[in-house]
Amino acid sequence: MDVIDIRDLVYYPVSDRKVMRGEGVHLYDEDGTEYLDCVAGTFNLSLGYSHPAVVAAMKHQLDLLVHASSSLQNEPVNGLVRRLVEVSPESLTKVHPKVSGGSTANEGAIKMAQHATGRSEVISLFRSHHGQTMMMTSVSGNAARRAPHPSLFPGTLQVPDPYCFRCFYGQRRESCGLMCVDRIEDFLDHASTGRAAAVIVEPISGSGGNIVPPDGYFQKLRAFCDERDIVLIFDEVQTGIGRTGRMFAAEHFGVEPDIITTAKGLGGSGAQIAAILTNERLAGLPADEHVFTYGANLLAAAAANATLDIVRQPEFLAHVRATGEHIRGRLAELAKRHRAIVDVRGVGLMIGFELGRPDGTPDVELARHLARTAMRHGLIMRSSRYGHGNVLKIRPPLIITTDEADLLCDRLEGLLRAELNA
Ligand SMILES: Cc1ncc(COP(=O)(O)O)c(C=O)c1O
Repeated sequence: MDVIDIRDLVYYPVSDRKVMRGEGVHLYDEDGTEYLDCVAGTFNLSLGYSHPAVVAAMKHQLDLLVHASSSLQNEPVNGLVRRLVEVSPESLTKVHPKVSGGSTANEGAIKMAQHATGRSEVISLFRSHHGQTMMMTSVSGNAARRAPHPSLFPGTLQVPDPYCFRCFYGQRRESCGLMCVDRIEDFLDHASTGRAAAVIVEPISGSGGNIVPPDGYFQKLRAFCDERDIVLIFDEVQTGIGRTGRMFAAEHFGVEPDIITTAKGLGGSGAQIAAILTNERLAGLPADEHVFTYGANLLAAAAANATLDIVRQPEFLAHVRATGEHIRGRLAELAKRHRAIVDVRGVGLMIGFELGRPDGTPDVELARHLARTAMRHGLIMRSSRYGHGNVLKIRPPLIITTDEADLLCDRLEGLLRAELNA
């Protein structure tokens, strides 16, 4: 019997080889070939592949109970809610775990803001990615993803992001006075309905090119929101759960948003879990207005509890900061040797490096080519999707050791030597 190639049956492009198992930062295919994963799966494997504590917690829960209605109390979800309140900024005292992923967490956060303010419009940043439901496709700052869908959520407004390396306003960081916050006022006055409920931001853009806002940006944005009674939502789907070397990036930047959404890394080794963390004022959305069958799943909550118990340890977070600094140092060395690397930036283990041509223009083709050929050098890599798309991301599992970080950098060096000097 002819075996049909799976690639003729699925709707999306897939690799020609199958992956079979993973351990820590390493993934192995059917031939036993090993790859070091620079992007932690889908940026979600905070504790790497098959972390023993996560696997054990899930196995234990599997024997007890996999699913129960989210209206019934149970141990894993109770534990998750308590832990999330403990690790989140002080003012965020309420948890909504009945969401099925990052997109629905963000939608819930927006509904909460709309409910509390009585206003509807949502402000987001250029190059942002907040998910791919219809609403989050409308909110995300990327026209190419919106274009094929004519009937989107109408009340969205995208404003320039704090991308200092290629500033929208042509300013310099030292002297701009954070024009990118001041000018939001103009967009509100002239390009919106004037009825903004929320600003939603990724503290460091995930798909948009690892853009780290300059000092003072979030303080100014917080003040901007406070003056206008606009809810500030931090989408920490990528930056949360230790990725920046703090539990949440809000802590790194020294601001308290009104809402944080979390997903991805919360599942440790890939469990499907997400939550909305909010303050008392915003917790008024009726409970049945944003609930999903696979939200607050017991198996996934057990995984999240094991993950939080590890990530919240101060020495674990210190390790993320130190390893991140080490990798950034090595990338800076590589940048001296390869002029195509025009910027290296990041916080903790949320790192990106930008590729440019000799005239400084973004080199998207090179970024894509390197991401494609990385597997030949034992690396799994991804380039940024939005904006210029010329940024390669280094976001390995947070458990990466210094030796493994060096291995990652050595392989990257081999990749750059082979492809850039070719
Ligand atoms: C910053 C950010 N927000 C939201 C999402 C959407 O999460 P999900 O795919 O779980 O719906 C993503 C997914 O990549 C993301 O990176």
